[in-house]
Amino acid sequence: MSNTPNIKTALPGPNAAAIIARDRARVSPSYTRDYPFVMAKGEGAVVEDVDGNIFLDCAAGIAVTGTGHSHPDVVKAVVDQAHRFLHMSGTDFYYEPQVELAEELAAIVPVGGGTGDVRSFFGNSGAEANEAALKLARYYTKRVNVIAFLGSFHGRTMGALAATSSRFVQRRGFGPMMPGMFHAPYANCYRCPVGLKPDTCAAECLGFVEEQILVHLVAPDEVAAVLVEPIQGEGGYVVPAPQFHQRLRELTKKHGILLIADEVQSGMGRTGRMFACEHFGLDADIVTIAKGIASGLPLGVTASRADVMTWPPGAHASTFGGNPVSCAAALATIKILKDGLVRHAEVVGDYLLGRLRTLMDKYPLIGDVRGKGLMIGVELVRDRQTKERATTERDRLIQEMFARGVLILGAGRNAVRFAPPLVINKEQVDSIVDLFDQSMAAVSGRVGV
Ligand SMILES: Cc1ncc(COP(=O)(O)O)c(C=O)c1O
Repeated sequence: MSNTPNIKTALPGPNAAAIIARDRARVSPSYTRDYPFVMAKGEGAVVEDVDGNIFLDCAAGIAVTGTGHSHPDVVKAVVDQAHRFLHMSGTDFYYEPQVELAEELAAIVPVGGGTGDVRSFFGNSGAEANEAALKLARYYTKRVNVIAFLGSFHGRTMGALAATSSRFVQRRGFGPMMPGMFHAPYANCYRCPVGLKPDTCAAECLGFVEEQILVHLVAPDEVAAVLVEPIQGEGGYVVPAPQFHQRLRELTKKHGILLIADEVQSGMGRTGRMFACEHFGLDADIVTIAKGIASGLPLGVTASRADVMTWPPGAHASTFGGNPVSCAAALATIKILKDGLVRHAEVVGDYLLGRLRTLMDKYPLIGDVRGKGLMIGVELVRDRQTKERATTERDRLIQEMFARGVLILGAGRNAVRFAPPLVINKEQVDSIVDLFDQSMAAVSGRVGV
């Protein structure tokens, strides 16, 4: 497929329009579709819609298709496994792809201090991975309460939803939430909740946990777990100062609280490391994984210290969880990541970050450019001093990008996220940045300036 977007108009073509009309009649209206992209096929970081329009993919199916669309090694693994058997249910039977994947994960997840003494539970999604983590934490500690962070996203099933606090539309009408969930401010260093600078702070934002939640609301020995995204995803691609994670780890250890790192979005090479925890030297008790693990097939993993995963047969399981085809795709994905793709994401990510940062001189609307590897957020503000959120401008930017042939998603209230397939090359990055530059000019009212 050509690398060059060929879109002529942001309006849906006739084939797309027909499919969208059918979708609107029969598919749940709860899905958010920002623009009328109807996928026909994809290859690497390029996708084509049903009317033959070509786009550069800067969203990767919400940070999922790290190995690119339909990577031949993943497709082969899927087809080979599909010919052998599609399903048997790991709930009641054994099969080797699931065991092999658990062994692979034990060697790479940042759990248990690198000892490899790790066990994995398999589900189908990120929400299920977190659901299992919450249940496991309660089961193991015999405590009920959990601390999560404002702006976080952990999924939409009832347990995970209680922790999710990204946007109220995700919670409105679904209460009461699971009890025992407390929220603290996240270390958003661009908008420091306690007004400090990241290079000189000692993660004072955690004072809210130490001095408020654990003093006024719940006793430390009644808290089962802290659930945290190493880098906040849906909340705006927010990268905390490393001391935030270090202090949080010390705090949880001190009180026998389990630390659950939600790597659903930040894991599997996305940040230029296999897991984002590695950037912060963070060793968790439980890590949750989904999205990028199987290049697009449904799979969620709750990986924990072996001594924590002590629940007995029948305590937790899922008919489809750890499906053999998804496990085969995950094994192929991990091989590709280890064979150089993680390193590639780091190099190309640094390049993209650098190019985006140079645009800050041109557009005062860009308040912050941040990220690791190919998990990069650009936050738009109306005024760099007051940091007033440029929400409508952000929404317009997404449309301008689409009209120029780039699929990109928002994050948080006023940021866009650059989360392309990790296989993206520098030439494609250059095209995306050029089209971003043009889109920013349109949004800033500087077209032709
Ligand atoms: C950090 C994080 N955790 C959990 C989830 C939920 O994953 P899923 O949509 O697969 O349930 C997401 C999804 O965006 C996420 O970004």
